[in-house]
Amino acid sequence: MNANQPIGIFDSGIGGLTVAKAVRELLPGEQLIYFGDTAHLPYGDKSTAAIQAYSVKIADVLLKAGCKLILIACNSASAAAFELVKEYAASRAHVFNVIDPVVEYLGVQHAGQRVGLIGTKQTINSGVYFKKVEALQAAITLHSLATPLLAPMIEEGFQRDEVSDTIIQSYLGHEAFKDIQALVLGCTHYPLIKKQIDAYFEFQVDVIDSSEIVARAMKHFLEIRGLLNDLPKGDDRFLVSDFTASFQHATALFFGKSVKLERYPLWE
Ligand code: DGL
Repeated sequence: MNANQPIGIFDSGIGGLTVAKAVRELLPGEQLIYFGDTAHLPYGDKSTAAIQAYSVKIADVLLKAGCKLILIACNSASAAAFELVKEYAASRAHVFNVIDPVVEYLGVQHAGQRVGLIGTKQTINSGVYFKKVEALQAAITLHSLATPLLAPMIEEGFQRDEVSDTIIQSYLGHEAFKDIQALVLGCTHYPLIKKQIDAYFEFQVDVIDSSEIVARAMKHFLEIRGLLNDLPKGDDRFLVSDFTASFQHATALFFGKSVKLERYPLWE
């Protein structure tokens, strides 16, 4: 592995571009290769076995592209396939997920507190946040709720309007979130509605956007291993397993600016 190899990032679709954006801002010297598995999204209601099969196939694409690190920018895939992808990559690349850095942050910032978690059915039902938070032994009580309508709502552009207000209120009004001190946004789509969630809690709850925390943790990880790129980098690439104009259009929503998607089927 050497510093001038690219960083691979993948998600079920384009939601992981929120993480790619944070990485792009914090690590301007790195070349990114993003893979959105748009042919198989959403991952949130797929079986663990299916997500594992997709994830290994994508890891293979990113390894063949010479990535020094693979970041799983999807909570559902982080929950279902992190250990497997790590084993598959072995010594060829480091593997990062979007859950561990957030759990570490909770241990430092919210020990002894009541914390909420929202995410897809896959992420919540996997229990992975519970296992990892319990392992911290930081007396954190975690209260979770699957919020499957949020990702499609965001993709369809419902933000800062009546429809999204009603859905957000209906989920966050759940008794699980009574008296919480922090709320983990356990899905890479959710940073787009962070402001609305902040407002719902009247700015009294630490609403945790994993994208920035993950980008910071990754920077530190690469820094201490001498793997930060110090040479002029190649252009970023954005691959998708299926292409439609609406995916292309939505990139601006998640990345802050439109990016050019390249169609790259996983099986052909
Ligand atoms: N971006 C995915 C995640 O973070 C959610 C979308 C999906 O269900 O594929 O879990």
